[in-house]
Amino acid sequence: MNNTLEVKDLKTHFFTRSGVVKAVDGVSFHVAEGETLGIVGESGSGKSITCLSLLRLVPPPAGRIVSGEVILNGEDLLSKSIKEMRKIRGAEISMILQDPMTSLNPVFTIGNQLSEPIMIHQGLDKKSAWEKAKEMLTRVKIPLPEIRVGEYPHQMSGGMRQRIVGAMALSCQPKLLIADEPTTALDVTIQAQFLQLLQSIQKEFRLALIVVTHDFGIVAKICDRVAVMYAGKMVETAPIREIFNNPRHPYTRALMNSLPKMDKNLKRLHSIKGQPPDLGNLPPGCSFAPRCTEALKICLEEIPPESIPAEGHSLSCWLAVQR
Ligand SMILES: Nc1ncnc2c1ncn2[C@@H]1O[C@H](COP(=O)(O)OP(=O)(O)OP(=O)(O)O)[C@@H](O)[C@H]1O
Ligand code: SF4
Ligand SMILES: [Mg+2]
Repeated sequence: MNNTLEVKDLKTHFFTRSGVVKAVDGVSFHVAEGETLGIVGESGSGKSITCLSLLRLVPPPAGRIVSGEVILNGEDLLSKSIKEMRKIRGAEISMILQDPMTSLNPVFTIGNQLSEPIMIHQGLDKKSAWEKAKEMLTRVKIPLPEIRVGEYPHQMSGGMRQRIVGAMALSCQPKLLIADEPTTALDVTIQAQFLQLLQSIQKEFRLALIVVTHDFGIVAKICDRVAVMYAGKMVETAPIREIFNNPRHPYTRALMNSLPKMDKNLKRLHSIKGQPPDLGNLPPGCSFAPRCTEALKICLEEIPPESIPAEGHSLSCWLAVQR
């Protein structure tokens, strides 16, 4: 399989008054054509900043990509000019944000908002772009697209708005689509429908898809591989079956244990004991050590190196290091 995206040792830091916050701290991963990678981890672990870094949209002025490579179809995006990046965003990489309302402008019709990027990136005239906008609404299963295309965002339900944002992201047929928590604002049935829709479109166009979520249930349903983030690092990456059958990193196991156990009729998730670390003041060794029930002495002193216990499975934990 061809890798659409290859990220190597990406570091994105925030330079604040109180010090350097290492939001993304040496992250490497890849996503192949037609593949779905899930990125999971607790709040604040660096998932969104990793995604925004791929688009070179790290919040200014404090945020900066410090080093690394982001290779999209063989080209390093970090060496592109601002003008070149503007062309790439939307056309080659699209991102669906956490809150659909932030991506829709309340004062323009859906048709206007959908057709503008089509005109800019694909060079279609107004009429053809409007037709394409309708076609995209049909594709994301919006009923009566010929009417909806002339309506405003507030006239839509939350689920419809989410699908419209999906249509916007897909309208220029990007090679890489990033969906950052696409489902939080939606109820469970709509969540499932939206994700299935996204997945069917993704398979049809052989898109590389990154889905960011807190939810291992979603990962199990739609991802091929998963990367677990903790404190700005990807601590374990593996194919989906491998991660469910054989999670090796203590943090991954703790996250799995926090899944609701239907059979035991538990309504609440177990939370993992302790707080995620302050990314501006990380402990010297493994960042998870203060919360890890299996920590060794070395864990408190040195950052664990990466090991590859099986093909396609990597993790950073001293327990996996043969010594
Ligand atoms: N504008 C900013 N200035 C300083 N630090 C920031 C800024 N934005 C993010 N950070 C830091 O980057 C870290 C990672 O943030 P990010 O938004 O990537 O988390 P996340 O994993 O997406 O969390 P969530 O699941 O809540 O969306 C945060 O813990 C925060 O410390
Ligand atoms: S390196 Fe040590 S502290 Fe970190 S997860 Fe592994 S066992 Fe726990
Ligand atoms: Mg986020």
